[in-house]
Amino acid sequence: MIPVKSAREIAVMRDACRIAANVLERLCRIVAPGVNTYDLDQEGRRLIESYGGNSACYDYRSGNKRFPAFTCLSVNEEIVHGIGDLRRILREGDIITVDVCVLYEGYIGDNARTVAVGAVDESVQRLLDATRGALGKAIDQARAGNRVGYISNAVEKAVAPHGFGIVRDFVGHGVGRTMHEEPQIPNFGPRKRGDRLRPNMTLAIEPMITLGSPRVEMAADGWTALTRDRSPSAHFEHTVLVTPGDPEILTVADPG
Ligand code: MF3
Ligand code: CO
Repeated sequence: MIPVKSAREIAVMRDACRIAANVLERLCRIVAPGVNTYDLDQEGRRLIESYGGNSACYDYRSGNKRFPAFTCLSVNEEIVHGIGDLRRILREGDIITVDVCVLYEGYIGDNARTVAVGAVDESVQRLLDATRGALGKAIDQARAGNRVGYISNAVEKAVAPHGFGIVRDFVGHGVGRTMHEEPQIPNFGPRKRGDRLRPNMTLAIEPMITLGSPRVEMAADGWTALTRDRSPSAHFEHTVLVTPGDPEILTVADPG
């Protein structure tokens, strides 16, 4: 069963998501050559706490592991769940995915964006544009009456003409009281798959797209997922509210 939120829950989700979006926006503005990813993560912690929230990533458990950082920072061939590191200094031409997941008053807002560090290769810029575009197309399918598969299929269709890889090992997800609720939202597959969406469901939609092969390898740290062929990977994510009408993106930063 996909959870349907009450009006009160949605009000809190709006706050959690606004915080997550504000933090993401501010972190992305700090990204520049010479910045190391540990400092970026620490700034993420400070910002989240300055808004009265907590990181939903820090101490997140998977099996007997606990995630040791406050945000997920994934550079170049890293796909998701990268850990900030003092020795990882961003250089011109890199890309970095900043993923901010905030817990606020019992509810979670989740969003991510891949940004360029200075000027990047044309092919990498196309990867970023295609992934952002695929997220937009996917969000547009988050409509009452559509199946989850409409979202999945929209990503696959948007990416196909570019020939980029679609990561299959990680999926989007329902989000609310916990980071990962039903449903799972793959970034590929037929429209007929999955349950039908209803108003007041909240979904984290997140295509992860690679320039080369989408095959995944795990780093020795037990968390960081990277491409086996070391090709760059992009990832854009929003938390979205299904409404009786158009989908509403909840992870929108305040102006300024
Ligand atoms: N946005 C990420 C996700 O949906 C947040 C992961 S936090 C971590 O998986 F602790 F798992 F790294
Ligand atoms: Co997510």
